[in-house]
Amino acid sequence: MAKPRVFVTRQIFPEEFKRIQEVADAELWTDELPPSRDILLKKSNGVDGILCLLTDKIDAEFMDNAGPQLKVISQIAVGFDNIDIAEATKRGIPVGNTPDVLTHATADATWALMLAASRRFGESERAIRAGRWRTWHPLHYLGPELYGSTLGIIGMGRIGFEVAKRSAGFNMKVIYYDTNRREDLEKQFKMTYADMDTVLKEADFLSLHTWGGKSTYHLIDEKALTKMKKTAVLVNAARGPVVDPKALYNALKNGVINSAGLDVTEPEPIPMSDPLLTLDNCLIVPHIASATTKARKEMSRISAQNLINGVKGEKLLTCVNPDVYKAKK
Ligand code: DGY
Repeated sequence: MAKPRVFVTRQIFPEEFKRIQEVADAELWTDELPPSRDILLKKSNGVDGILCLLTDKIDAEFMDNAGPQLKVISQIAVGFDNIDIAEATKRGIPVGNTPDVLTHATADATWALMLAASRRFGESERAIRAGRWRTWHPLHYLGPELYGSTLGIIGMGRIGFEVAKRSAGFNMKVIYYDTNRREDLEKQFKMTYADMDTVLKEADFLSLHTWGGKSTYHLIDEKALTKMKKTAVLVNAARGPVVDPKALYNALKNGVINSAGLDVTEPEPIPMSDPLLTLDNCLIVPHIASATTKARKEMSRISAQNLINGVKGEKLLTCVNPDVYKAKK
């Protein structure tokens, strides 16, 4: 019997790709950059499964083009705003993602961003490389102190909660907002629920951990930024479009807030002409918050296994739209 056909849109850990090859006739996209839309459609025409990334748009057109035999969409990420989940569910196609395994890596990176942005590590490191470290100066590179300050978190999911827990070592007060109050988590760790305005107003460090998509698009806009403290540091390790980049630029330029640390931008990659890149008080890294070897190995393993299970008609390890299984009963 012919093996199922799958398309893997980027290199994953080789041992995981080998496991896929054992059960499927697998094509791997080896370029560093994502396949263009045309290539994505061409390569996935007639496949039984796809292992995809945030950079691949998986919508109705994609699913139509792939064909009715498409059995699984396996995303190597926890977020899935590139995938039309309702459309996949309507067609009975399970969508896999990689939750949990990147929670600690992302929470750690969030702290790195909070500290690096507030303590001006990007700016001062650039100054050294440009030959501008001339002396120790009592008034150089001053920034807000994190220890003992207030951490505001918007989005209290797995990552938001791990970020909150790490604040104990810094003796911080934690306030958070989420559309669902998480009293279960409040029992495990002392933190205060508040409305979004209060979190914006009281946070010395504001960290975003919401989902992407329409409901959070430009959640942090000019109005939100003006509610924040002038000394506040904004960190976004969620999705770029959660923050309005023009409003952020104005806020950073005009001292509405102190600084920002971004793992994600709108768009990605950030164009070299983006004015945020001209600001010393905006630290930007290229969407690498989950990039520990451990997390990425696990993401490779889970997404490979989801793909394998999907083409075999077995349940995925982690499924974003488990309703597809109810429908099949
Ligand atoms: C995700 O998993 O959604 C991140 O953005 C990439 O690790």
